[in-house]
Amino acid sequence: MILAKPKHSIKHVAIIMDGNGRWASMRAHPRVWGHVRGSGIVADIVEAADDAGVGALTMYAFSTENWCRPQTEVRVLFNLLHKFLKRERDRILKNNIRFKIMGDITNLPVSTKNLIAQLENESRLNTGLKLTFAFGYGGRSEITQAMNLFVKENPGRDVTEEELAKYLMIPDLGDVDLLIRTGGDHRISNFLLWQIAYAELYFTDTKWPDFSVVEFDEILDIVSKRERRFGAITSAPDLKSNIEQARTNKSLLRG
Ligand code: IPE
Ligand code: IPE
Ligand code: MG
Repeated sequence: MILAKPKHSIKHVAIIMDGNGRWASMRAHPRVWGHVRGSGIVADIVEAADDAGVGALTMYAFSTENWCRPQTEVRVLFNLLHKFLKRERDRILKNNIRFKIMGDITNLPVSTKNLIAQLENESRLNTGLKLTFAFGYGGRSEITQAMNLFVKENPGRDVTEEELAKYLMIPDLGDVDLLIRTGGDHRISNFLLWQIAYAELYFTDTKWPDFSVVEFDEILDIVSKRERRFGAITSAPDLKSNIEQARTNKSLLRG
């Protein structure tokens, strides 16, 4: 891990790793071959994010909608997660990375759930990159769950945005600064709906198995030059300072 100061202010990167099936089909291989190849580059991107000084990296590995896929494909995806956890455990711990899964993993094999619990526990006090795999994840389901939890604990009270954010699956991940989708499609597919409210979006035609550290670094570079205004007229330091400004304006103009 390189400890140089980051040249950008991108703190949370989220990635929709898409295009595996098409990558394989184009090569006359079964779709699952694309997943196998795709899983091979995940660790490189984790390292690149860490080296680039990104604080949090959230990767979409299996959506609530992906349950509709053929059983054999789902099984391969489960298997690849299992293998990743076994293969990368030592490196994750050595690099001070905090690992978590967000999503419903009830239907994963017990042995995989054990590996997840073990790594989440072993890495829970790590202070480096927050690495999260969204698995069995859906943005709408996360928001609904957060709302239900809030209502249960605060019956009869309206929720505020700040409060609801605290009931999300992993509240300390915060807002997404940059969302990358590989594979050429321009959609969100139910990923981090709450957290991407002001994210910079970057869509690349590169299919996930062909994605590389070079392209990742290029995207960070390109996006860090964009002007983020958060609704203001000049580049604002962040969403929070804008909210403060808005509050002041509202009370001054109330009349
Ligand atoms: C992304 O690749 C991986 C998952 C959704 C699990 P796809 O399997 O969606 O690949 P394409 O989009 O069909 O090419
Ligand atoms: C999004 O990709 C989910 C993951 C990458 C895990 P999909 O391939 O499932 O999304 P759609 O079907 O193209 O919207
Ligand atoms: Mg896809």
